[in-house]
Amino acid sequence: MLPMEQFRKFKNEITRFLMDYKFALDAFETKIEILKEEFQFFHDYNPIEHTKSRLKSPESILKKVYKKGCDLSLEGIRTHIKDIAGMRITCSFISDIYRISEMLRSQSDLKILEIKDYIKNPKPNGYQSLHLIIEIPIYMSDRHENVCIEVQIRTIAMDFWASLEHKIYYKYNQAVPAHLLQELKEASESAAALDRQMERLHKEISEIKESRMEEEAEEAMRRISLSNQQFQIPEALLRLVSGVDKDS
Ligand code: GTP
Ligand code: MG
Repeated sequence: MLPMEQFRKFKNEITRFLMDYKFALDAFETKIEILKEEFQFFHDYNPIEHTKSRLKSPESILKKVYKKGCDLSLEGIRTHIKDIAGMRITCSFISDIYRISEMLRSQSDLKILEIKDYIKNPKPNGYQSLHLIIEIPIYMSDRHENVCIEVQIRTIAMDFWASLEHKIYYKYNQAVPAHLLQELKEASESAAALDRQMERLHKEISEIKESRMEEEAEEAMRRISLSNQQFQIPEALLRLVSGVDKDS
């Protein structure tokens, strides 16, 4: 075979390989969009701040193959590298993270292969997030494939911390001075404290919102609208109808 032809064949194979992961991300993004829209409609609230997905570059895949010492074949890569497709979901509150994870766990076409809870058990450096490895089926013209996606779910504060830590880690070429490591650790504890405080505030505000909605619903029940006139049902009439006044 001509080298050019050989190269074309190889390129096709890699493209097809990466395409599976792209389709998996497309399908998964749609799932997340549906959850977001439906949740907004029924609960008047959106648990997802933003999402970001990415495909690992062939260069990074290769680096990981060497690091892990796994087989340099597409099949070997498929089996051992689970984060070729990745999606990060950023939420406002910690409870949203678990809520989304539960919603995903209950979808019967998804298979949760692995859960790493770095919120309950943060990494020694302070890193926090919930990681899921999820297998999603994708259907093509002549075959179907079960594809892995790495999903990282975190709060805005966790995301803020992780992006700064990542920058520092690379700036120092992975040898970060001890005082910075210590400060990062402390910053992660502050971020976690902020998350807990925001969660408490959120809960309190939701309770106020709920009781106000109940009051408003009661108000609306007592109102009669006819063309452009509105009547309030008098308290005495309500008591009479409900039988409160009958025996007295
Ligand atoms: P590999 O999957 O082989 O990378 O190792 P692992 O399974 O131990 O990885 P893990 O699931 O713990 O983390 C995978 C991804 O989470 C990384 O690629 C990062 O995006 C993110 N991550 C994990 N630890 C850290 C950390 O300490 N700091 C930051 N900024 N991100 C992290
Ligand atoms: Mg991993």
